[in-house]
Amino acid sequence: MKTPELITDPASWQARCTAAREGGTRIALVTTMGYLHEGHLSLMREARRRADAGGRRGLAVGTIFVNPTQFGPTEDLARYPRDLEGDLAKCAAAGLDAVLAPSDPAQMFAPGHETWVTVERASQGLDGASRPGHFRGVATVVAKLFNLTRPHVALFGEKDWQQLAVIRAMVRDLAFGIEIVGMPIVREPDGLALSSRNAYLSPDERRRALALSGALAEAREAAARGERDAAALRAGARARLEAAGGRVDYVELVHPETLAPVARAEPGSVLLLAAFFGTTRLIDNGRLP
Ligand code: PAJ
Repeated sequence: MKTPELITDPASWQARCTAAREGGTRIALVTTMGYLHEGHLSLMREARRRADAGGRRGLAVGTIFVNPTQFGPTEDLARYPRDLEGDLAKCAAAGLDAVLAPSDPAQMFAPGHETWVTVERASQGLDGASRPGHFRGVATVVAKLFNLTRPHVALFGEKDWQQLAVIRAMVRDLAFGIEIVGMPIVREPDGLALSSRNAYLSPDERRRALALSGALAEAREAAARGERDAAALRAGARARLEAAGGRVDYVELVHPETLAPVARAEPGSVLLLAAFFGTTRLIDNGRLP
């Protein structure tokens, strides 16, 4: 288990990745904000596998950067959990070759930075409505990380369903020429979706937050019994969250690709949830049968 090469300077990272790519090496990328858990690691193991898919050892790389531009002024940027040393050990176990972890946000967003990527339609509604500017920050940092790394393939979690749609739209519209792979949500044994923000939860909030995965399971069961009415499915999920003391941000049933709200559930429709437990905002989603 070799410790991955740690690079903190984006220019050195770009030189390292460019040299590899020009040498014909296949590059697979996972972008993260660190405080890594099994969800991140499932992406990294798949990156390892896909980097090596050409029959020759490729370069599996990750980035760890708490991107200030995707946090709102009242959000948790200052207290976002960090553990670079622990993260590097996890990256090693997952098989990464190299990690970019800029030591200062100014390395990615220097004073005078003035270029932003806005993915217009996919960023509307849902998290885009609740977190103004969030997806502009995400798209811009991911575009920059793509340019610094120039991967052949990049992996993202379905946990952030709307984020995945935003990235896919950006890659399509700006012709990045990168294969985007969506990976299934990794959960705790009791159903809670893994998230770095779970670290904020008190034991009581942690227990109540199970209403998220519980509401998804309930909606899947209702849909399997033949309930197709989106309003009824949404009301059921909202009631479950509220009964657990969750403050609902949104409960939406949408088309999996366009994210447009649907009135009737179709196979594959996605139920998207966002709710606060205490001061912690969590999201979860699941596809209906
Ligand atoms: P972060 O929340 O650290 O997540 C990094 C990647 O891990 C994302 O693709 C996310 O969808 C995935 N992920 C998180 N929890 C997961 C889980 N339980 N199961 C599967 N995948 C999971 O998302 C971001 O960072 C940032 O917005 C970023 C893309 C890095 C841009 O700053």
